[in-house]
Amino acid sequence: MSKTKTMYVCTSCGLEHPKWAGKCNGCGEWNTLEEFTVAPAAPKNFSAASSVMSARGVPPKATPINQIDLVNEHRYNTGIGELNRVLGGGIVKGSVVLLSGDPGIGKSTILLQVSGNMANQHNVLYVTGEESANQLKLRAKRLGVNNDKLLVLSETDVLSVCDNISASKPDIVIIDSIQTMNLEGVNSSSGSITQVRECTSMLLRVAKTLDIPIIIVGHINKGGDIAGPKVMEHIVDTVLYFEGDRINSYRILRAIKNRFGSTNEIGVFEMLENGLTQVENPSAMLLSGRISGVSGSSVCCVMEGSRPIFAEVQGLVTTTGFGTPRRMATGFDYNRMNLLLAVLEKRCGMFFSNLDTYLNVVGGLKLDETAADLAVIFALVSGLKDTPLPDDVVFFGEVGLSGEIRSVPRAVLRVLEAERLGFKRVVLPKSCFKQLMSANIPDGIELIYVRTVSEAIDLIF
Ligand code: TYD
Ligand code: MG
Repeated sequence: MSKTKTMYVCTSCGLEHPKWAGKCNGCGEWNTLEEFTVAPAAPKNFSAASSVMSARGVPPKATPINQIDLVNEHRYNTGIGELNRVLGGGIVKGSVVLLSGDPGIGKSTILLQVSGNMANQHNVLYVTGEESANQLKLRAKRLGVNNDKLLVLSETDVLSVCDNISASKPDIVIIDSIQTMNLEGVNSSSGSITQVRECTSMLLRVAKTLDIPIIIVGHINKGGDIAGPKVMEHIVDTVLYFEGDRINSYRILRAIKNRFGSTNEIGVFEMLENGLTQVENPSAMLLSGRISGVSGSSVCCVMEGSRPIFAEVQGLVTTTGFGTPRRMATGFDYNRMNLLLAVLEKRCGMFFSNLDTYLNVVGGLKLDETAADLAVIFALVSGLKDTPLPDDVVFFGEVGLSGEIRSVPRAVLRVLEAERLGFKRVVLPKSCFKQLMSANIPDGIELIYVRTVSEAIDLIF
């Protein structure tokens, strides 16, 4: 008979080690290995497996894929359009969603708002392990949530929670948070890797057996990863991540993993005194404070899922006070900014080597798409020349190391949205011409096709 085995699992990255060590081999973190007991392994060889099979009776039969009936999953409306969009059209029955983010970002707030909305039609169970029922009531008062179908359970014992779920059979369950949950018999404290892993699996079983969706709040550690084992991300169906900084009132909700939808969609929210409100037109919000006639400001267009988002990119270029120039990028990859500066130096003869260069994307947005390159280049050049760009121009295009401007997908959608937002000119890659040739582009917008960075700079300045 196989025995139980002891493993050591890193709480930061989830890598398993056969022996204890001070430093994790996977992520290099110190003091993160925790003891974990593994259940007996399944039989390895065929003969052993076949003896088990005969003991269990008839083996299960696989079905040809064309004979599987497609059942459309049932989705609940959360009452918040931006959240529904990120989930892929609402929360799927029986699915487990992990909501994660920095402390104070608004996880409990959004979930209480969702609970309030859903309790108009459905039975909701809100399990709070973090705050007392009284604290929750205070928050609910502030958010205007008051409904007899919203039940609050202040409990940290996961077995009691599961008992309550199977007895009361609510339509949706919220667990706030998994780090406060505790399974009796597991020999470690709440929030530890073993507890988090076991409690998540337990809740998952309940969700799947009773076909009840569960939203679980999970904390993140210093490095920004979800605290507890990486395995938690593998177990659940959907992982949502709330980002933004606490100083800025805007919050972006992103799906990192979604078994029931795309992971490209984002939801934009603003934290106000009465909770989180949806920002339906993020581009208008991101461009709202823009001052005209100031150098070092350009507008980019990036795709966030199926939506084109417009944001202001700012570049500030000043003389270096010390020997080494200072370079800083907020909302844009630092190394990519350096790469673009090198392209400007080498291909366009613009030197930044004795200048401090600061790049900033307004509104806390992070530009991951390379289509933002051209706007970054123009913000920097406008900052260097101290010459403002025209207000009505939008830029998009990827910049290559030879100074060429390369094609980006979805050019038609970007141009149409630019026109809708009132822009008059779009500077875009020549290679996007094919995409736009057959499209029905309104007359009010001028398309300026460019092949290289230097050609674009000559055309605009
Ligand atoms: P919270 O939802 O408790 O964050 P988390 O659960 O992610 O830790 O959010 C708390 C912050 O939100 C707190 O700093 C106060 C602020 N807040 C508002 O600005 N308006 C509101 O209506 C509420 C409920 C909270
Ligand atoms: Mg909270």
